[in-house]
Amino acid sequence: MARVYNFSAGPSMLPEPVLRTAQAELMEYGSSGQSVMEMSHRSKVFDAIAKDTEARLRRVLNVPDNYRIGFFQGGASTQFAMVPLNLMITGAADYLVTGNFSKRAAKEAAKFGRVNIVANTADCNYTAIPDVDALEYSKDASYIHICENNTIFGTRFTKLPQVEGIPLVADMSSCILSRPTDVSKYGLIYFGVQKNVAPAGMAIAIVREDLLGKAGPAVPDMLNYKTIIDADSMYNTPPCWCIYMTGLVLKWIEEEVGGLAAMEARNNEKAALLYDYLDSQDFYKNPVNKPDRSIMNVTFTSPDPETDALFCAEAAKAGFVNIKGHRLVGGMRASIYNAMPREGIVELVAFMKQFAAQHG
Ligand SMILES: Cc1ncc(COP(=O)(O)O)c(C=O)c1O
Repeated sequence: MARVYNFSAGPSMLPEPVLRTAQAELMEYGSSGQSVMEMSHRSKVFDAIAKDTEARLRRVLNVPDNYRIGFFQGGASTQFAMVPLNLMITGAADYLVTGNFSKRAAKEAAKFGRVNIVANTADCNYTAIPDVDALEYSKDASYIHICENNTIFGTRFTKLPQVEGIPLVADMSSCILSRPTDVSKYGLIYFGVQKNVAPAGMAIAIVREDLLGKAGPAVPDMLNYKTIIDADSMYNTPPCWCIYMTGLVLKWIEEEVGGLAAMEARNNEKAALLYDYLDSQDFYKNPVNKPDRSIMNVTFTSPDPETDALFCAEAAKAGFVNIKGHRLVGGMRASIYNAMPREGIVELVAFMKQFAAQHG
């Protein structure tokens, strides 16, 4: 077996100890005589798995008691609709458009009410994050929406919009669990799990209790946070395997990494290895405004698109896969989520140096 370094933006690498546990428990979970894939979601065994996963998420992320947690199908994209359907009670909301996913979220929300685009960084091809204190937010906004880490463009918010009385909603799909988060600063956090948390197939939402129960009667039950959360995410058959894998990843963060502060230290160090190299030479360029650089998704280009293509092909041969940039940006993107080991980046930088020496 030769495992590659997978720089995919998602689905992405999972921690090896997690995969090994899942493998060891695949045929029989505990002494249940069956796999988690096969068991009833109403069984005692699975109920314990789901409760443990939620409890771990609460512990690891330090989720305050007045927040509820739900497991949802439909990925983060379904959350783009659920947020306005459940929270847009004034008929208006503010959106900061800092990339493709926040643009999509705003477009979806506009189907349900008035969307005020309070910032849009399209002019600089989303290479910078706006100064959140200099923006004008709407008085009648039900919430302010951001995408905290822009997976495609490699930027992240380092400061959050905070407006008295108006909840902040954040898509944290590509940065959740990468560092400690003060959940009390948000009204609602949602994320697709396929980057830092689990295999694809689920989104998780963490919702401040007082924001629940405001959806209109026409909102389908499956799109109503309260319906799903009140049923402990068992209103219908939940994504059982994803819930189980989420629990294993959280256990890894808690027991092997040592929690989110330790996770952040690892991630900062990993990102610095790559950015420091990028800043030390002229062959590759990173277009992002330095203070806004993501520690999860690092974009870079070589001198021209042909060399980019050659880089990706050679990198794949050398065991660094899925490093091609998103079509909206071109070039390369190394997604270096929690599970990417430090050695993966050390080896990638060595490969980049060698490639630059040959083609510079
Ligand atoms: C920040 C962000 N939001 C939303 C999405 C869409 O997620 P999904 O494919 O789960 O709908 C992605 C996917 O990559 C993402 O990176």
